[in-house]
Amino acid sequence: MSEHTQVKTVEMNYDKDRPGAENPLKIEDLSLRDGHQSLFATRGRTEDMIPVAERMDEVGFWAVEVWGGATFDTMHRFLGEDPWERLRTLKRYMKKTPFAMLLRGQNLVGYRNYADDVAKLFVKKTVDNGLEVFRTFDALNDYRNFETVVPVIKECGAHFQGCMCYTLTEPRLGGDVYNLDYYVKKAKELEDMGADSICIKDMAGLLSPYDAYDLVKALKENVKPLIHLHSHFTSGMSPMTHMKAVEAGVDIIDTCLTPYAYRTSHAALEPLVMSLLGTSRDTGFDIKGLAEINEILEKEVMPKYKHLLDDTKVSIIDINVLLHQTPGGMLSNLVNQLREMDAIDKIGEVYKELPRVRKELGQIPLVTPTSQIVGIQTVNNVLFDTDEERYKMVTAQVKDLCYGLYGKTSVPIDPEVQKKALKGYERGEKPISCRPAEVLEPELAAAREQIGDLAVDDEDLVLYTLFPVTGKKFLMQKYGKEQMPDSLKPITLEDVKKQDEMIRKAKAGELVEKASLEKGEFARTFNVFVEGESFEVGVEEIGGSPVITYAAPAAATPASAPASAVPVPAAPAAPAPAAPPAPAAPAAAPKPAPAAASASGTPVKAPMPGMVIKYEKNVGDSVNEGDTVVVIEAMKMENALPSPVSGVIQAVNFNSGDSVAKDAILAIIE
Ligand code: CO
Repeated sequence: MSEHTQVKTVEMNYDKDRPGAENPLKIEDLSLRDGHQSLFATRGRTEDMIPVAERMDEVGFWAVEVWGGATFDTMHRFLGEDPWERLRTLKRYMKKTPFAMLLRGQNLVGYRNYADDVAKLFVKKTVDNGLEVFRTFDALNDYRNFETVVPVIKECGAHFQGCMCYTLTEPRLGGDVYNLDYYVKKAKELEDMGADSICIKDMAGLLSPYDAYDLVKALKENVKPLIHLHSHFTSGMSPMTHMKAVEAGVDIIDTCLTPYAYRTSHAALEPLVMSLLGTSRDTGFDIKGLAEINEILEKEVMPKYKHLLDDTKVSIIDINVLLHQTPGGMLSNLVNQLREMDAIDKIGEVYKELPRVRKELGQIPLVTPTSQIVGIQTVNNVLFDTDEERYKMVTAQVKDLCYGLYGKTSVPIDPEVQKKALKGYERGEKPISCRPAEVLEPELAAAREQIGDLAVDDEDLVLYTLFPVTGKKFLMQKYGKEQMPDSLKPITLEDVKKQDEMIRKAKAGELVEKASLEKGEFARTFNVFVEGESFEVGVEEIGGSPVITYAAPAAATPASAPASAVPVPAAPAAPAPAAPPAPAAPAAAPKPAPAAASASGTPVKAPMPGMVIKYEKNVGDSVNEGDTVVVIEAMKMENALPSPVSGVIQAVNFNSGDSVAKDAILAIIE
């Protein structure tokens, strides 16, 4: 590294006004989207953003990311919040700073490619509701998936930021797929599409400092748009990576406010502000103002979320990402999935199989949704494959990928895997090579017909089109046709204080457990983690205010508990206290199967916990062995479950949208 740094220290009197920097580094704040998505399972509520919104508007951010990614899904599914309303509400408090979102190209904010009519309406409504900067990415870096959304973004006068998903196959930038040439070429493609800025999207924190220097420098030399760096902290490299990128002339860097920073999130803003103070790249941000925001978050907001923070580990960096290149979010998903399936001992095998599956599926970048697609297929392979047969249970999304429905992979998909996945595939056994959405029929008209008057405006319609099952459920709640379950309601600081007090008592042995473990109908259960110990805490609404009904140390393997929550058809007469939902879970607890179901016949069991998407067969239908009976969604991936025998469906035990535990009996065939 012989080049001189471009960062110069400026003579200044720190007590007086800071002189304006020659080329101030621009900052996008991610606290209100990627921050809580990375650390708190995207459970941040709008009401907890309002206390700091006005102050954040004064900081001078280039943009604040407040939407997109998993927020749209999580809000309506787990928080009982209308995602569109968040934009409108926050805009009332943050009038100056542009709002940014993460748009998954033609996947929008979902997990598959949507038809062009849906994509156009989505972008338009998003701008109408206050969004200005569209950070647009495609998991395969196949920019044909931008062709529909980009002209609409431009027409609406919004900012089109094109992403390059940063991935590696070697420990450092290089090799024959993901090298400097690859990224420069991608950046030029984005420039040609009219990108207003180009983002290096390093979702797993794989970008090392000297690679960042070379990459940013090459991009600044070859393309004109602003260069923006998004580098997760996961591996621990990002603060160093930020500094080298600044030296190479990066224009914008993403950070989080301290309470939302580090671990699998992003490096904190405040140390960067101090590091650049008085240099030619000084951000100009008021460090005291930032400290005040942090104080509010720390005292008034974070206590409500600390139970979601994974504090089972002391280390705040994850060296697995350096060893396996598994992004943090994907890793925790895999661990949770394995735990729920009582197969956590298989994690080593999953690590071993993952690079192989990734390679077979076209050496694709691992980012939503491809990280889930590769991750869950790997889990399926490890759990269900035999010595004679690989890819025994192929998810619907892997079939779509093999068909070309996500786009073109960086290297061709393994032909044998592709052939196996596409056997009997509904769209055809021969993969496509065109822009994926060209084979998708328009979706809005059919969706409008299905949802009818329940969708009052286009925003409702888009929500339903993207998430037909959970979206419909939400609209029923929104318009009072169904009661909002208590599990979706927020907790208050008062709740937190009471929980803490009960935990203190439990630890001091002052609690009598006895009958207080019986829970009322409206009780809600929280799993609270304290210094490595977990506690199950029940909160019940009594006489208008929440009351802690009990707190008890949780069972040793809390995550396996949901399996017992679903009794097999012959339900026990005296039910044991209901098992707690899994740690991440204001989600609805799995429903028990109707006790009336026939106990004879061959059951179709859920091989993993998940949500019923739809039954392909109903009671009275005859099925052949191997026919799909029911489709369940686990970790966002759809699994078609085949009939183990030929016969007639005797019982169907769940409805679309129901959560089911592993081994739940979904149907009976005789
Ligand atoms: Co991110």
